[in-house]
Amino acid sequence: MKVLGVLGSPRVGGNSDILLDQALAGAKEMGARVEKITLSRKKILGCLDCEKCNETGICVIRDDMGEIHKKILQADAIIHSVPLYFWGMTSQMKAYLDRWCAFFDGNWTWHKAYAPKMIGKKIGLITVCGAPDVHTSDPIVHSFKETCKLAELKLLPAVQASAYAKGEIEKNEKIKGKAFELGKKIATP
Ligand SMILES: Cc1cc2nc3c(=O)[nH]c(=O)nc-3n(C[C@H](O)[C@H](O)[C@H](O)COP(=O)(O)O)c2cc1C
Repeated sequence: MKVLGVLGSPRVGGNSDILLDQALAGAKEMGARVEKITLSRKKILGCLDCEKCNETGICVIRDDMGEIHKKILQADAIIHSVPLYFWGMTSQMKAYLDRWCAFFDGNWTWHKAYAPKMIGKKIGLITVCGAPDVHTSDPIVHSFKETCKLAELKLLPAVQASAYAKGEIEKNEKIKGKAFELGKKIATP
């Protein structure tokens, strides 16, 4: 079992990073091999909607997303962790998600080569917002929910946290425990 962690915060060592590490530790405890990608350290341009990938399944943009596409295909499960920026996901996570476009044909159906690797794949989501109500980040959950529905991916219940200052979440044992459990659950066959 291979679990890929995708960090959507540019704040390395910040709240989403801490919770993602917890989730990956949970997955590791279940015997999974884990890998973390920090999107802000990668060059990922926005989707151009050039439609070339509708035919080929390959994106024309030559940047770090090519390598990430391969990792997505190889992983048995993917856990995303992202803070709320202006009632949405960060630009890093949005650019990454939009580039999933290359996996689909013109009807938003998986390209044949990808379908067996992707359909039913488990997806995890962790959100962090500065506002005290964790549901302030529901727009991110909505975006992942609908994407997973469209793509026949299996989204596990999201872990939603609230913290503002860098690293503040470290004191919140309860939410760290929830992230750890998400990692354990996602790594359970
Ligand atoms: C550009 C920017 C926009 C933000 N927008 C929101 C927001 O709309 N709602 C909110 O509750 N918190 C907002 N925040 C606060 C972050 O979500 C919060 O600080 C979070 O803990 C950051 O997570 P991180 O440490 O993983 O980067 C924003 C922060 C930044 C830098």
